[in-house]
Amino acid sequence: MKLLVTGGAGFIGTNFIIYWLSHHPEDTVVNFDKLTYAGNLNNLTSVEKNPQYRFVQGDICDAKAVGAVMDGIDIVVHFAAESHVDRSILEAAPFVMTNVVGTQVLLDAALKAKVRRFHHVSTDEVFGSLELGTPDTFSERTLYNPRSPYSASKAGSDHLVRAYYHTFGLPVTITNCSNNYGPYQFPEKLIPLVITNLVEGKKVPVYGDGLNVRDWLYVEDHCRAIDAVLSDGKVGETYCVGGTTEDINNITIVKKIISLMGKDESSIEFVKDRLGHDRRYAVDWSKIKNDLGWKPQHDFDTWLTRTVEWYRANEPWWRDVKSGAYQTYYTTQYQGTV
Ligand code: NAD
Ligand code: TYD
Repeated sequence: MKLLVTGGAGFIGTNFIIYWLSHHPEDTVVNFDKLTYAGNLNNLTSVEKNPQYRFVQGDICDAKAVGAVMDGIDIVVHFAAESHVDRSILEAAPFVMTNVVGTQVLLDAALKAKVRRFHHVSTDEVFGSLELGTPDTFSERTLYNPRSPYSASKAGSDHLVRAYYHTFGLPVTITNCSNNYGPYQFPEKLIPLVITNLVEGKKVPVYGDGLNVRDWLYVEDHCRAIDAVLSDGKVGETYCVGGTTEDINNITIVKKIISLMGKDESSIEFVKDRLGHDRRYAVDWSKIKNDLGWKPQHDFDTWLTRTVEWYRANEPWWRDVKSGAYQTYYTTQYQGTV
C-alpha cells in the first residue's frame, strides 16, 4: 500500500509516520509538507533512511505539485493544516487558504487519481463550545458550530470532504479528535509551552480564569484510531476520537506539570483571555469503540509525566524550534506579559 501523508513534518503527522512505518513496514509513505514554521524534518531522522519513506516539499494549495505527488497513491491521510487557534486570531487568511482551499485541491487530485481512501484529520473544535459543569459531549450527531477562525476553517474542510463523498463518490473517512499531547508538539500549544517555559525559568501564561476544559488524547492513541478507521472504518463515515472521561481544566494541568517538574506555583501568570475562548470540550468516543473496537490506552497522568520527560530529554529539539521566528510570535501573542 502506498500512503500519501500531508503535513507529516508536523506534530501528529510525525508521530503517525513513525507509528505507520513500524506497524506496517511493507507499506510506502510519502510525506508531503510545505515546511511552515510548524514543520520540522528533524522530527523524522529515525525514518529518513528507510527505503519505504520519501519526503516531498510542497504546498497543498499548489495543484500541479499535488497532482504529481498523488500519482500511484492508494491512501491519503490528510493532516496538513494551520493548526493554532491563537495564530488564527492574529491572522485568519493562511487558515482559509491551507485548511479550506488546500483541502479542496487535494480532494480534486485524489478524485482524479482514484485513490482507495481519503482520510481527513479534523478536530472536535468544529462543534463549538460546551457549558462547564454539564455532562454534555460532542458526538458524530452534534451540529457544527465553530467559533474561531481555525475551527471555522476546519469545519469548511470537513464539509468539502463530505461533499466530495456525496457528489463524486470519493471514498472518504473523517476523524474529529480532541487535543493531542505527546512528543514533537510545537511549543506554542499549552502543554509543551508550559513545560519548556518552566525549564527556561519563565512564567507560565494561563488565559482567563484557567477553568477552560479540553479533552486530552495521547498522540499515539490518535494514530491507532486512524489506523482502525483506515482498516475497518466505513466509507463516508465520521468517527469522534477522545482520550479522557472526566473534565480536566487548564489550571489543573498547569499545576500538575509544575509539580512534576518540582517548580513553584508562583510561576503561574494569569493573562488576558483568548478572544472567543471556547469554554469546554468533551468527546463521546463510543461510536469508534463500539464499531471498531478502539479505545484510548494511555491514561493522562502517566503520559503527561512521560511527555514532561520527553521534553526534558530533548531540550536541543525544542530550543531550536523556539529560536528565530517563534520569538516574534511569542512577543506579539503575549505582549510582554510573560
Ligand atoms: P502542526 O501545526 O504541528 O503541523 C502541521 C503541518 O502541516 C506542518 O508540518 C506544516 O508544515 C504542514 N503544512 C501547513 N500548511 C501546509 C501547506 N499549505 N501545504 C503542506 N503542508 C502544510 O499540526 P498538528 O498539531 O500536527 O495537527 C495535524 C492535524 O490534526 C491538523 O489538521 C489539525 O487541524 C488536526 N488536529 C490537531 C489537534 C491537536 O491537538 N494538535 C487536535 C485535533 C485535530
Ligand atoms: P491550545 O494548546 O492552544 O489548544 P486549543 O486552543 O486548540 O484547545 O490551548 C489549550 C487550552 O489552554 C485552551 O483552553 C487555551 C489554553 N491556553 C492557555 O491558557 N495559555 C496558553 O499560553 C495557551 C497556548 C493556551
